[in-house]
Amino acid sequence: MSPGPGIPAAPAPRRWRAAPAERVQGEIQVPGDKSVSHRALMLGAIAEGVTEARGFLASEDCLSTRKALQAMGVSVERPAETDIRVQGVGLAGLAAARAPLDLGNAGTAMRLMMGLLAGQAFDSTLVGDSSLMRRPMERVAQPLRAMGARIDTLEGRPPVSIHEGASLLGIDYALPVASAQVKSALLLAALYARGSTRIREPVATRDHTERMLQSFGVQLARAGTQISLSGGQQPRGCRLQVPGDFSSAAFFLVAGCLAAHGAGLTLRQVGCNPTRTGLLEMLRLMGARIEVRPHVGGAAGPPAGAEPIADLIVHAAPLRGIRVPESLVALAIDEFPAFFIAAAAAEGETLVSGAAELRVKESDRLAVMAEGLRTLGVSCELLPDGMRIQGCGGGIAGGGARACFAGGSIDSHGDHRIAMAFAIASLRARDELVIEDVANVATSFPGFVTLARTVGLSLQD
Ligand code: S3P
Repeated sequence: MSPGPGIPAAPAPRRWRAAPAERVQGEIQVPGDKSVSHRALMLGAIAEGVTEARGFLASEDCLSTRKALQAMGVSVERPAETDIRVQGVGLAGLAAARAPLDLGNAGTAMRLMMGLLAGQAFDSTLVGDSSLMRRPMERVAQPLRAMGARIDTLEGRPPVSIHEGASLLGIDYALPVASAQVKSALLLAALYARGSTRIREPVATRDHTERMLQSFGVQLARAGTQISLSGGQQPRGCRLQVPGDFSSAAFFLVAGCLAAHGAGLTLRQVGCNPTRTGLLEMLRLMGARIEVRPHVGGAAGPPAGAEPIADLIVHAAPLRGIRVPESLVALAIDEFPAFFIAAAAAEGETLVSGAAELRVKESDRLAVMAEGLRTLGVSCELLPDGMRIQGCGGGIAGGGARACFAGGSIDSHGDHRIAMAFAIASLRARDELVIEDVANVATSFPGFVTLARTVGLSLQD
């Protein structure tokens, strides 16, 4: 919450101290889904009429998207902390911003915005923080150019300059990398293109854009991993419910597997879109005990485009190492930092391959996780596209967790998910962990420290 006009916000904490904790339990609800919140803002902006979303994630990343849209003349009110009301301006209603659009740490915002802005009648420049300025943007720029957009990057990275007056044409495009951000950017550009756009994915990735387009009344055809959309369709404002973010729940799922006590740890109203829940399957292959209780909706069932929601109840279980099926990687792409902690605490070896994309996230998540795991005393081998981890086999001793990690200082390299993953590792640590550079946790999970303490972690900021 903002401290009020004229009062500077307290500086975000730069480190956490995580004392060893043995147990977690209780019932919590994680904040709204980041991917869905970005999309609700963007589609709401170019819709005709009003869009109201409840459960919106008021994190730094989503607020960067909101600010960028406001700079282009869109009114986005927040009648409550997690409610938004977007006054749509229609497909042709965005106006040029006066300054470059600063998207902070938000890769999703930048990539989806590229698609949204490629066909506008004005120039745009997109920039971000030091992490975002290092991330690859040609994967989006190239297919957009094939549609007729005029886009420059700086050696493949931001700033991204989008030039006015491009007239877009639909394309038939096979994505070379599995990326929901690229797919979504192309779907947004396709709304502005003449003719039809067909996108083929190498494997299924999160389908929030497709579902939400349907909620906004846009027709698209889906067959397996192929999507077709005819240009010129005007989205219509609607009401949306943003589910809890599965990627935020992931840290507590792993915490529960390692150390849930008594009746277990319950996570309420988590988005369980099957294109996001690869981690559930991976943990179950390791022997986890996780119960999924879907919310079934009214008699008519969930409306078209809605996101499936479930309560998740997790109990501690002894985990064993696995070879992660490559088919699950894209379905768990943001969950590997948390998963690596589960693997490090399991009995035996875990092998992850086919996950080179982890090297171009908010940090190089393979290298940064390996560095942190070694500090914990875990033996691991970094592979070009994955990691081999020798779990220390903590087991479950007498209802509590057996400590098997050393304490020490972990550098999260400003990556929110790395910081939260190592906070969970404190459930198996013998000594205190000091986790550095944690301010960016506010990009995806405001309130993490409070929720973590509620369930039993001992985190000091
Ligand atoms: C996202 C897609 C994924 C994911 C990111 C959010 C999205 O990125 O890692 O956190 O909202 O579309 P990629 O498309 O680069 O895999």
